Amino acid sequence: MLKKLSIAAIAALSLSAGGAMAAGGSSGHIENIKFSFDGPFGTFDQNQLQRGLQVYTEVCSACHGLRYVPLRTLGDEGGPHFSDKEVRAYAAQNFTVYDEELEDDREAKPTDFFPMSGDPNAPDLSLMAKARAGFHGPAGTGINQLFKGMGGPEYIVAILAGYTGEEKEEAGTTFYENTAFPGGWIAMAPPLYGEDVEFADGHSNDLHHEAEDVAAFLMWAAEPKMMARKQAGFTGVILLLILTTLLYLTNKKIWAPHKGKH
Ligand code: HEC
Repeated sequence: MLKKLSIAAIAALSLSAGGAMAAGGSSGHIENIKFSFDGPFGTFDQNQLQRGLQVYTEVCSACHGLRYVPLRTLGDEGGPHFSDKEVRAYAAQNFTVYDEELEDDREAKPTDFFPMSGDPNAPDLSLMAKARAGFHGPAGTGINQLFKGMGGPEYIVAILAGYTGEEKEEAGTTFYENTAFPGGWIAMAPPLYGEDVEFADGHSNDLHHEAEDVAAFLMWAAEPKMMARKQAGFTGVILLLILTTLLYLTNKKIWAPHKGKH
C-alpha cells in the first residue's frame, strides 16, 4: 500500500521530472528514457511492443529464451494485441516444440510458451526488465526509483547501446567492453548495430530505437498486467480519500454540540 500511495503522491512531480533526460554516459550510468508506460497512468504502446517482439524474434531469440511467457498473451489487450490468427501464425512460423504425445517436434501453438534460451550462457529474458534496476541514486538511497521507475528497461537499452568497441580474450572467452554492464566487460557480442530489422510501420530502426522497442517489449513480458496494477492502485487511493473525507466530516458532526461549552 505504501508503494501505491507514494506512486500517487509523486504523480504530479513525475509529470515534470519524467521528460527530463539525464545527461552523460559515464561508466555505469543509466540514462532515464521517457517510455509510454512510465508514471501512474502510463500504458504500453501496442506498436512499440510489436516492433520490440520483432527485434526479439529476429535477433535476441537466437540465444535468449522467454520461457515464462505464454505465446497466447501476444493477443492480450494492453499488450501487443495481435489477432488470434496472427498469434497462431507467429507461433507456427517461429518456434517448434517437442510434443510428448507425438514423440516428435511440431510447430508451436498459442497454448505453448516461448522457448528456453538456446545458448546456455544467455540468461532467460522473461523477467530481466524487473530483475535489473537501472537507478540506485542519489547516493545509493534508491529514491530516484520513485520518480523514474526501477530503470529495468533503461538498463537494457544502456547495455545494448553501451558497447565501446573494445574486446579482450580471457580463458577462451571473448569479452566486450560495455559502459552499462557491472564490471565493464560482458560476454555478449553486440547484438544490435542499427538497421538490424525492417519495421513494417516504417519506424526508425537506428540502434537506439531498436533498443528502446525491445526493452519496452521485455518490460511487458516481465509485467504484462502493469496497467491493471496501476489502475487498482489509483482506485485504492481515491477510495481512501473519500473515506478520509467522510470520517473527518463525521467526526466534526459528532463533536459539534460539545464545542465551546466550557
Ligand atoms: C549470440 C548470442 C546472443 C544474442 C544474439 C543476444 N544475447 Fe544477450 N546475452 C548473451 C550472453 C552470452 C549473455 C551473458 C553475458 C554475461 O553474463 O557476460 C547475455 C546477456 C544479456 C543480458 C543480461 C545482462 C545482465 O545484466 O546480466 C541482457 C539484458 C541481454 N543479454 C539482452 C539481449 C537482447 C535484448 C538481445 C537482442 C537485441 C540479445 N541480448 C541478444 C548472448 C546473446
